[in-house]
Amino acid sequence: MDVRKGLVIPGAIRGIGIRQVRVTCGLILFAYLLSHFANHALGNVSYGAMVEGLKYHMAFWRNPLVTAVFYAAGITHWGLGLWALYERRQFRYRTPEITQLLLGISIPFLLVAHFVGVRLQQPLFGRDLYYAQALFAYWVNRPYMEWVQFALLIVAWVHGCIGLYFWLRLKRFFARAAPYLLVAAALLPMLALLGLIQGGRDVIELSNVPAWRTANLSQAQFSTPPERALLDAIIFWFPVVYGAVLALILGARGLRLLCERRGGMINLSYPNGIKVRVPQGLSVLEASLRHNVPHASVCGGKARCSTCRIRVVGDLAALPKPSRREAFVLARVGASVDPAIRLACQLRPKSDIAFFLVFPPQVNPASMRRSIGIRMGEELYVVSMFVDMRRSTELAEQRLPFDTMFIINRFLAAVSGAVEDAGGQPNQFVGDGILALFGLDSSPAVACAQAVAAVGRIAANVAQLNRDLANDLREPIRFGIGVNGGEVIVGDIGYRERVVFTALGDAVNVAARLQELTKDLGCEVLVSEEVCRAANLAADPPATRDVAIRGRDSPISVRLVACAALLAADVAPDADRSSHASRADR
Ligand code: FES
Repeated sequence: MDVRKGLVIPGAIRGIGIRQVRVTCGLILFAYLLSHFANHALGNVSYGAMVEGLKYHMAFWRNPLVTAVFYAAGITHWGLGLWALYERRQFRYRTPEITQLLLGISIPFLLVAHFVGVRLQQPLFGRDLYYAQALFAYWVNRPYMEWVQFALLIVAWVHGCIGLYFWLRLKRFFARAAPYLLVAAALLPMLALLGLIQGGRDVIELSNVPAWRTANLSQAQFSTPPERALLDAIIFWFPVVYGAVLALILGARGLRLLCERRGGMINLSYPNGIKVRVPQGLSVLEASLRHNVPHASVCGGKARCSTCRIRVVGDLAALPKPSRREAFVLARVGASVDPAIRLACQLRPKSDIAFFLVFPPQVNPASMRRSIGIRMGEELYVVSMFVDMRRSTELAEQRLPFDTMFIINRFLAAVSGAVEDAGGQPNQFVGDGILALFGLDSSPAVACAQAVAAVGRIAANVAQLNRDLANDLREPIRFGIGVNGGEVIVGDIGYRERVVFTALGDAVNVAARLQELTKDLGCEVLVSEEVCRAANLAADPPATRDVAIRGRDSPISVRLVACAALLAADVAPDADRSSHASRADR
């Protein structure tokens, strides 16, 4: 939660910026295109199917609420697109970006005749037009208009698909879904075009049937000359006004540039001695692009990917505060605690700064997708438990490899089941040993209770396993357990696809040492006294002692448990219950 000026802003809302609003509005418009084009595609079945489909299309999109949302989305998307054109400080576009921009700008020019001729007649003159009138008008009265419609269909579709691509390409499923999406993206407009052509031909034929003509092409279904004059005036003046707005935006950009230059120039210092001089108001990423300094920016500066991250060195006091969106993205990747880490695409310094790039410039959407979801590291109180199977080497010497693997897997399953039942998480398997974590989603007290409860459950499961395998084992399976709690770093570590979530820190190392010590001390379990106390275990002075831990200056107080099953009897009933409660809450 974010609290500003007494306002409590939920996390999800904090992450909403202009870009997110634009994407949401774009998705609504794209949904309309899908429905409209699917309707056109029905023309491949028959003209009748097209007309029938239009009833459902209109029933939904002409619902007053849906209409309001649709037009609001259209106006917002358009307005924010123009705003983005003003906002952008550099024109080094990649091909899909410039294509999307140019297509987006051209849509209103292409759309105006269709919108005014077909849609605006309803609110202006109370006249609803359907396929019959529209196709007749385009295929018979003004044949050039069919080409304008084809161009509009393709332009709007490609613009939407590029936007969808930018939105989806960072998602994990995108690589798998891309071929299917590409097929759908190519197929639907093609079917829609063919459907329109077929529908147009059918309408030309039907227009020779007097009864159909009377029903669909009567005088009342076409605009009167004064109405036509008004519609034509709108169709003429709209592009003029729109063109003037575009020119104004470009003029405003030039004016802003002058003001920024007057406002002063600042120096940005990159690693390796690169230094660029830019006007105030430019974002660091825009400065990099303008001066051809390689800079990772997978999302293209839209505050989505965080790959443009930089670490500012020197005085941080002069930096402008992160916007709500920037703060949200930094928090999402666990970088919000360090004020020196900023998003280069959002930071617009007002004075000289020096910084390092956090990511190499070669980061791309594919490597980004792999790293999405990676937890960057967080400090957490976690109870770590190491469980090791005893004498597994001897076991392997006496058996076929398959038998050994079978028994070890049964052992690991018995331990993992017990850990999960107690509310913990089996985290890593190393040979015949296992690291389990407790407290990833519960309080320290609950985590300790869960870990202690797990010890008893492990004893019970392994005892059952020994009974099941009595005929296959020369001697029962034995094990050693070390349990310790403390603040550790939890997060993802690894390389490329081989990334695992785990815990690192002194508390984990101590748990591993305790497990090793169980061999020397001739017991099954060693639990740090701190965990026993937090788990509400009754004090047991004879079983408690200080043990020296390799690599640590001072000994730690632990409880020796000769037989793990005995610990189960000591677990306070409410502690065991809390472990179940925690699991149920998850
Ligand atoms: S470029 Fe993606 S967040 Fe800055």
